[in-house]
Formats: sequence, structure tokens, C-alpha cells
Amino acid sequence: MAKYVINGGRRLEGTVTISGGKNAAVAILPAALLVSGKCRVENVPDISDVRTLLDILADLGAEITYEEPSTVILDCTNVQSTHPNPELVRKMRASYYLMGALLSRFHEASVALPGGCNFAARPIDQHIKGFRALGAKVQQTEDYVHLKPGPNGLKGGRVSLDVVSVGATVNIMLAACLLPGRTIIENAAKEPHIVDLANFLNTMGAHISGAGTDTVKITGVEKLEGGTYAIIPDQIEAGTYLAAVAATGGNVLVQNVIPKHMECVTSKLEEMGVTCIHYDDSIRVMSDGRLSATNVKTRPYPGFPTDMQAQICVCMSIAKGVSNLTENVYETRFFGYCTELAMMGADILISGKTAIISGREKLTGAVVRAHDLRAGAALVIAGLVAEGATVIKNISFVERGYEHLAEKMTSLGASIQRIED
Ligand code: EPU
Repeated sequence: MAKYVINGGRRLEGTVTISGGKNAAVAILPAALLVSGKCRVENVPDISDVRTLLDILADLGAEITYEEPSTVILDCTNVQSTHPNPELVRKMRASYYLMGALLSRFHEASVALPGGCNFAARPIDQHIKGFRALGAKVQQTEDYVHLKPGPNGLKGGRVSLDVVSVGATVNIMLAACLLPGRTIIENAAKEPHIVDLANFLNTMGAHISGAGTDTVKITGVEKLEGGTYAIIPDQIEAGTYLAAVAATGGNVLVQNVIPKHMECVTSKLEEMGVTCIHYDDSIRVMSDGRLSATNVKTRPYPGFPTDMQAQICVCMSIAKGVSNLTENVYETRFFGYCTELAMMGADILISGKTAIISGREKLTGAVVRAHDLRAGAALVIAGLVAEGATVIKNISFVERGYEHLAEKMTSLGASIQRIED
């Protein structure tokens, strides 16, 4: 297990380049299973979740070649297996996208239930509801999902999601692509990675409209052809750097971003006293490190992302006044990091789905542990702000989703070392 050792108290200055989006990549790479021919995917982040997913695809029979620095060429033409390696599947969350992709291409799949960050109950009932609406017979056991055609065969259908779910929207889009007829997903998620997946699939020949609205329509096609596609930048990685500069103070150009995707985060940072200047594909963030309290409620996109909850909580922990942070997507998400932040001096009271955070003048270095990806990122920000040394254990969680975090932070002037324990 590796750890970070951070000596806090330094301002961040310079330029940081944001990598391709994790949650877009983990949807787009399995989507290559639907394509006959080669997909050249650019801006693929070098993170452990992506490496695991590529290992799963290679194990299924995909031919994968890498082009430096972040381009992957996938050819899934010769894949025949519908049973991805369960050990690998259990290493990450988004491996559940193999269900939709394999169902669409082979009309059957047996996929282990996924693992990944475990900060809340993460049911997949809406994915299964979607597969059933497309005519699948779904058998779920304690640790597996088996999919095959039901008595009337597989074809397009209509599904209205009971909750806005990124994963269910992606999985139903994947499953519907190669099925005959029209599929309509109502109450669909609108996150940028949903639009990115639709753009990837349409580039390969799919017929998807409405992605980015709450109704996504898919008209099945017989075949998808190969092509080239570049993944969008990661808005949560970008938000993490913005929050880090807000908290430490500094002046950083965050480049390779889509500023529109960042508005929900930058508007909150601006309320806290941070300056964010939006350019075409970058944002300059300037902060003197003196922040004011604010209130945040997480919501599905275009609301404030739950994946930025922990990072903004660190900013609130050093902001003047009392902030309320309400989590509306995963109510138990505070428990992954608030105890650790308290060990660093943060004053956080959790009441139901709201954390009440009384800002402190400073945080103090401590030995803490990452319990999930975003919790780990928040602890990095806390370590950068804190007086003294912070040791963050279990950083494999962070490495699931942040490309070269220590190197990027170091290039901005942070003192952060990655040490193999
Ligand atoms: N939900 C259900 N049933 C379902 C699916 C979801 O009740 O079948 C509920 C969940 O319990 C949750 C809400 O619906 O309360 C939203 O969950 P969603 O399905 O949108 O989450 P997800 O697809 O499992 C993705 C991201 C998460 C991110 C959430 C919310 C990927 C691979 N993961 O998860 O990202 O927090 O959407 O935006 O795209 C992260 O990057 O750190 C991360 C956890």
C-alpha cells in the first residue's frame, strides 16, 4: 500500500493540465465492445480503474494497443466471451457497464457484481429494470447478474428511471444500441459523461438523441463501425485542483477543461471569495486562502456534484463562519472522511444528510486514511493546507481516479511525496 506524505502550508502557483474524464472513460471503453473494427480513443486517463477495465477487455479477447501519451486503440472484433473475469470485475464499480455492452452485442452476459468505492449502498435495481424493459431475462444471485433474452426476445423499449442514475442511463444506452427498435429512457441522468458516451457511440454510427436532457432516445442499428474519438476532460479532477488552490491560496491556470461543466463548482468557490476567470478551455483560479462560509446542496448535474462534496468540505473547514453541506445523492458519503478531517482539527457536525461545518483558522497535520476516491482527494487538500506533516494511507483509492496527482501537485509547488509502504 502506498501513502502520501505532505508538508502543508505552501501556496499553489503555475499551470496544471486536466486529464480525460474517469467516468466518461469507464463508459466509453466498454462501449468499444459494440464496435466492429478499431476504435482509437484519445485523452484516456492513466488511472487504475481504466487499467483494470482494459485488463478485463483484453481478457475477453480485445486487442489493445497503446499510443503515447494517452491514446488507446481497441479492437473488440474477436471477443467471444460473455463472462468477464470476476476477480477483475470486483476491483471496480464501472465494470457493471459490461452488462449492457455484452447484452447488446451477444444477447447474453454473466457478470459478477462490481466492487469499487464503497461509501454508500449502491444498488443496481434501475439498471436491471432497464434491461428488463428491453426484453432481457435477468437473474441476479448474491454475487452475479446473468442476462439472456426473455420469451419475446430483445428489442427497444421505454423505461422511466425511479431515480436519476448515471450508471443505469449508461447501461441502458449501451444495451439498446444494437437492439432492433427504439428505446426511450425517461428521467435520464444529464452528466457530461452521458453526453460524451452518446457522442462516442454516434461517432461510431449509433443513433442516439437527447443525451444531456432527461429523455434519451436510442434507435437500434445493426452495426457500429470503428473511428476516432477524444474523451472530455475530467470535471471532478479539475474541481479538485480548483478547490485545492482555493484552500491553500495561490494562482493557477487549470487547463484542458470545459468551463461550462465547471460552473456549479466555480460559482460556489466565488461565493467563498475565490476568483475564477473562465477562458475557452481553461480556468484561472486565484485565492488568498481566506474563504467565507457558504451553503452547498449536492444534486445530479447540473447541480453541485456529489463527487466534489468532500473537497468543498475541506474549503468550508477553514472558511470564516458556519457552512451547511447537504448531500442529496449518497447520504452516507460524509462518513468516509469527516472523522479523518476532525483528526486534523476540522469542526464538523453531521445531522442527517447535512454536515454543519464551523470554519477553523487552521488544520493540523495528522496520520489519516483514505476510505474512498474523493475522500482521499479531500485529505490531500487538507494536507496541503495543514500546518505540519500529513500522512495519507491507502492512496490506492486516490489512484483509481487521479492521474499523477503527486506529480501534478508538486509541479504547482506543493510538497507531496508518494511512498511505497
Ligand atoms: N441508485 C439506485 N438504483 C440504481 C442506481 C442508482 O437507487 O440502480 C441511486 C444511488 O444509490 C444513488 C443515486 O441513485 O443514490 C445516483 O447513483 P448513480 O447510479 O448516478 O451513481 P453511479 O452510476 O453508481 C456515478 C459515478 C460516481 C458518482 C455518481 C453520482 C461512475 C463510474 N461513477 O456512480 O462517481 O458519484 O455517478 O454522480 O460514473 C466517483 O467518481 O468518485 C464516483 C463515485
